[in-house]
Amino acid sequence: MFEHLQRAALATTPTPLEQGPVIGGGARLWVKRDDLTGLGGGGNKARKLEFLCGAALAAEAQALITVGAGQSNHCRMTAAAGARLGLEVHLILSGDEPDEPIGNQLLSMLFGAQLHFTGAAQSHWGELEIARELLTRELSGAGLAPYSIPIGGSTAVGALGYAAAFIELLDQFDTLGIEPSTVVFTSSSGGTHAGLLAGRAAAADAGRGVPGIVAIGVAKGVNIGLPDVADLANQTLDLMGLTDVRIDPADVEVDTRWIGDDYAVPTTAGDNAVRWAATNGGWLCDRTYSGKGLSGALGLAEEGRFANEDIVFIHTGGWPALFAAGGVPA
Ligand SMILES: Cc1ncc(COP(=O)(O)O)c(C=O)c1O
Repeated sequence: MFEHLQRAALATTPTPLEQGPVIGGGARLWVKRDDLTGLGGGGNKARKLEFLCGAALAAEAQALITVGAGQSNHCRMTAAAGARLGLEVHLILSGDEPDEPIGNQLLSMLFGAQLHFTGAAQSHWGELEIARELLTRELSGAGLAPYSIPIGGSTAVGALGYAAAFIELLDQFDTLGIEPSTVVFTSSSGGTHAGLLAGRAAAADAGRGVPGIVAIGVAKGVNIGLPDVADLANQTLDLMGLTDVRIDPADVEVDTRWIGDDYAVPTTAGDNAVRWAATNGGWLCDRTYSGKGLSGALGLAEEGRFANEDIVFIHTGGWPALFAAGGVPA
């Protein structure tokens, strides 16, 4: 399914699938530790970057350009990927240049990336994408051969990483002798979601029993303007060579009740989940992504959605933001 695709070895996989406590409704929680993918502090983007950087190297790119919010984990991990592969990295970020970089920005600088601050508001993704286009043209004009990556690495190429992750999960279910009903995870730009759906459709097509997939949306952009998750998943299946396997749009579920006021604005439930993860499993979640995502998983369990079932929460990472301004819940 993936052998014919270019891939750079960047992620430490398989990541552990750890048993957690019993949660609401008697659901048995398993945590897929994609916060431990290794690259530059870990997180979900390592899996996408394996395929994105594979394509960049195949295109003989000399630089990577990408975009994100001020405390973007995707940007931090792209910086680390560039460092590993010897590629120059340019990051286009929302917000203004801080007096002192902290959290993900500090790490991105440590990995040697060049940070370009746009002054844009946190989730004004469109503004960031225009800045990416302009810088891509500028660097191409200067003869640098950049490989330009949209927000979150959420292209069909990037989503391949999570199609492969879904197959990895199924293998772990077999080894552990479990049959979880549902995989829950944090979703923002939609690439992780699209990849999981593509992996699920591929496995189902091969006759395998598969769990359902529930995305917990943490950015309003999931609903406006970002790639259509079903389309992206179908494009991912195309790249896998499965052009006759298609996503059923009814299988695309994004629960947006856990966002709160906006992207990166902390919620009480999210902060409680950050503390719950730390004290129940020694897991580090952040307030923007994995904490809100986990609050959705715990909340759905409380509502009785997974009564007496095994469920998986994919921990997509994000701990460096705990060391950014306002990173730790009071
Ligand atoms: C820690 C973390 N979790 C989840 C996500 C969401 O992944 P996606 O953008 O593929 O929806 C991100 C994206 O930046 C992230 O940094």
